[in-house]
Amino acid sequence: MRFGIVVTDPDDWTARAIRDGLSKLGAESAFLNFSQLAARIGPDLRLRGNGTDLLGLDGLVVRDLGRTGSHDIAFRFEALSALQALGLPIVNPPSAIQRAANKFATSIALHKAEIPHPRTLVTTSFEAASEFVSDHGRAVSKPLFGYKGRGLALLTPDDPAPLREALAKSGVVYLQEFLESAALSPRDIRVFVVGGRVAGAIYRVAPPGSWISNLSQGGAPERCPLTGEIEDLALRANGAVGTVYSGVDLIETVEGLKVLEVNGTPSGLGVYLAWGIDAGEMIAAHILERLG
Ligand SMILES: Nc1ncnc2c1ncn2[C@@H]1O[C@H](COP(=O)(O)OP(=O)(O)O)[C@@H](O)[C@H]1O
Ligand SMILES: [Mg+2]
Repeated sequence: MRFGIVVTDPDDWTARAIRDGLSKLGAESAFLNFSQLAARIGPDLRLRGNGTDLLGLDGLVVRDLGRTGSHDIAFRFEALSALQALGLPIVNPPSAIQRAANKFATSIALHKAEIPHPRTLVTTSFEAASEFVSDHGRAVSKPLFGYKGRGLALLTPDDPAPLREALAKSGVVYLQEFLESAALSPRDIRVFVVGGRVAGAIYRVAPPGSWISNLSQGGAPERCPLTGEIEDLALRANGAVGTVYSGVDLIETVEGLKVLEVNGTPSGLGVYLAWGIDAGEMIAAHILERLG
């Protein structure tokens, strides 16, 4: 069998772990960078990535779709959907990748599944956004298609400038009540789910003076023992978004755990560093079990 692994950085730990996992189980794979994607329409429909005919593959594993401009993300999503419609198996399913990438869509999916989630407002209106910040005292603003803890801001009613800036930049703001971590220092819990099972969980402890705990923002991975509540919430959130593998971010509050978001293209490095658990190998085994 021959798979494509969609990834931007050829040194990415997770992409390499998936490739090595597939190889150990006897399946070939090649990295494809979606910055080298071409769809030709007419006389037939052809989709090529890095010069490879994508429909000639046995499946695609999406680790990281990448993006460079403001329009190409829609093209990359649409290309995945077209490939799936033409019969190519894709993990995660394109619809789940899109739902996870769009924080508004994720919030709706979590709400429908009655999963505890911070109070959230998504709006194009400055007045509605200001009212939300005043009601909650403090609110977190996140880019609608944000990732890696980038572009987050803590908003307070006395300083409307960052809110104005965020709204002017994107035309829409995604705001959430700021949840004080019930732990001694701000941290969240990242749960790695593969094929309907929890592979492992880590605390991500925010660096001193920060409340943003992503590893790429200086957060430190530490072992987080699994509890029934962690497993149950992570599996339900994964199911609500429709991912086959995911990273579910939880925050510990005085009212219990809440799900912040579900990542449809998560890094497995933190769980590996803390526990030695190879999520890439588990993803490879799961894919071959489904398709082999
Ligand atoms: N509502 C919130 N209250 C407190 N901290 C938050 C909140 N939302 C996010 N954070 C912190 O910011 C980090 C990044 O937020 P997240 O929603 O996971 O976006 P990203 O897609 O950028 O990872 C979280 O891991 C957490 O540490
Ligand atoms: Mg996150």
